[in-house]
Amino acid sequence: MKFFVDSADVAQIRELAELGMVDGVTTNPSLILKSGRDIREVTAEICALTAGPVSAEVVATETAAMVAEGRRLASIAPNIAIKLPLTWDGLRACRVLTGEGRMVNVTLCFSANQALVAAKAGATFISPFIGRLDDINHDGAGLIADIRTIYDNYGFRTQILAASIRTVNHVTEVARVGADVATVPPEIIRKLVHHPLTDAGLATFLKDWARTGQKIL
Ligand code: E4P
Repeated sequence: MKFFVDSADVAQIRELAELGMVDGVTTNPSLILKSGRDIREVTAEICALTAGPVSAEVVATETAAMVAEGRRLASIAPNIAIKLPLTWDGLRACRVLTGEGRMVNVTLCFSANQALVAAKAGATFISPFIGRLDDINHDGAGLIADIRTIYDNYGFRTQILAASIRTVNHVTEVARVGADVATVPPEIIRKLVHHPLTDAGLATFLKDWARTGQKIL
């Protein structure tokens, strides 16, 4: 499973890229707001940190304006994936922009049928929001599993990009059911390495090593 970083924080993305944890990045208007940066400037800096896709989201709601915004965002760097909302206007824009050879991430997906129509419209990525579904007592990981089955049944090549990841368990769940990508906030990626038995085991080894009185270097 690929890891995208769900953030517009350049410093955090750079740190994770140095660890080899960044196969791409996703942003959205809320993350741009949180960054306090100009969308073009911050997106260009992010695109320079990874060769993978960097999703940048349109804010227009009608097809023609979405296409115009998508082309403008795509002009920032060759690795931009244009993020479009899962509406009929968004899907019309998806067909135009993918027809031009651009990557499109169809976002705000909350049902298997939405994922089906996005794939038929040629989306490069579909972004089901699993955390927001869990928030309202639905089964976010179950949706990823359903989409995996449907896409595999018919050979759709749209990549399943599990989004709205809130916990380390979400990462395990979406990996288990076959998401192609998980877009994960930096703080959750950092938590993936933690295990109390690792900490306890390391402390014991270091204590015992000190008692040997030896040095490796
Ligand atoms: C990423 O593509 C999505 O916009 C993001 O994962 C949404 O996450 P949230 O539900 O925590 O805002």
